Amino acid sequence: MTRTIEELIPDYIRGLPFYVPGKPIEEVERELKIHAVKLASNENPLGPSPKAMEAARAVLGDSNRYPDGGTHALRHKLAVLRGVTPEEIFVGLGSSEIIDLASRVLLRAGLQGLTSVGSYAPFSVAIRASGAELVLVPQRNFTFDLKAMVKAITPKTAIVYLANPNNPTGTAFDAKQFDEFLGGVPDGVLVVLDEAYIHYALSVDLRHSEAAYHKRKNLLILRTFSKVYGLAGLRIGYAIGQPELVTAMNKLKTPFNTSGVAQAAALAALDDQEHVTRCIETNATERSRLSAGLTKLGLRPVPSETNFLFIPVGPEAKEISDELLHKGVIVRPLGWMGLPEAIRISVGTAEENDKCLLAMSQILTKRAGKSEFATR
Ligand SMILES: Cc1ncc(COP(=O)(O)O)c(C=O)c1O
Repeated sequence: MTRTIEELIPDYIRGLPFYVPGKPIEEVERELKIHAVKLASNENPLGPSPKAMEAARAVLGDSNRYPDGGTHALRHKLAVLRGVTPEEIFVGLGSSEIIDLASRVLLRAGLQGLTSVGSYAPFSVAIRASGAELVLVPQRNFTFDLKAMVKAITPKTAIVYLANPNNPTGTAFDAKQFDEFLGGVPDGVLVVLDEAYIHYALSVDLRHSEAAYHKRKNLLILRTFSKVYGLAGLRIGYAIGQPELVTAMNKLKTPFNTSGVAQAAALAALDDQEHVTRCIETNATERSRLSAGLTKLGLRPVPSETNFLFIPVGPEAKEISDELLHKGVIVRPLGWMGLPEAIRISVGTAEENDKCLLAMSQILTKRAGKSEFATR
């Protein structure tokens, strides 16, 4: 046989883009020999809850044992908190795993998965990796055009991905808009509603999706412990969905997807409301301050419902990101997300945000001087 392994890789997988992670801080510091701050991956700058760290440490010594593959304690606790049964909770290796599993369960060649331009890139990857057709609907003013998305549904559509609030644009839709959207989606189409940043969205009702789920079961709600709970490095998230879908995802997941340390930390994090409140409040204060500072520099950050700012800066977005990097501020240029004229800056601590504002001010002043010189 003359077939090569490479030939076995289907075209729809060969054509997939790589996920571009934010540059690790250590790498930047080593390469550029500078002290850097990372405002590139929408992490929680205040760290995990002290209670979660204590709980994680307490079970480290059990690491010779496999974890509870059924995540019994966490599913039961989440079920009580979210008003559903444990059979409606799926615990995943971050919400990333669940984004992928939903497509793997429901999509195949001949079907369509729908999402929006300017949304979280792994949605498109999950759809394409299943062999299904990816259908992208344009955004309006950096928000989902929910009406156009309903119109784009065809008999072949099996799944629609939404992030509320959205990454990378930071915008959110409200309960009324969502209900109207859901009203137009047939029962046989699953809506994956990714609420990774929902705690930061002060204008969105935290419990609305649950209420919507009780009325329409074609919803899969995604939450993560990576953002407000500060556990991104431990990789744990969960979904609420109908038991049949949860069962199918459980069949496809790897047997021990989440570690015992992550499960223990997540359980304890749910009990530390004080930490959650502090993170939400600090983010709101710093988000306003960073946004005001950037606006003062002549930039136009899009009003954000998240822990990051989306800033359309024009064709020099990549250069500006590189210049920030050389000044020790790691941000995200968004070309790989299909938005080459924008950058995304995560909200950091007051000190980190000050460093970012100072660097941006120096860069823009230098650029203004140069362009003045060039046009003179
Ligand atoms: C919208 C959205 N969904 C999901 C994720 C992935 O989160 P997790 O760490 O739970 O895999 C992210 C991460 O940044 C995100 O922005």
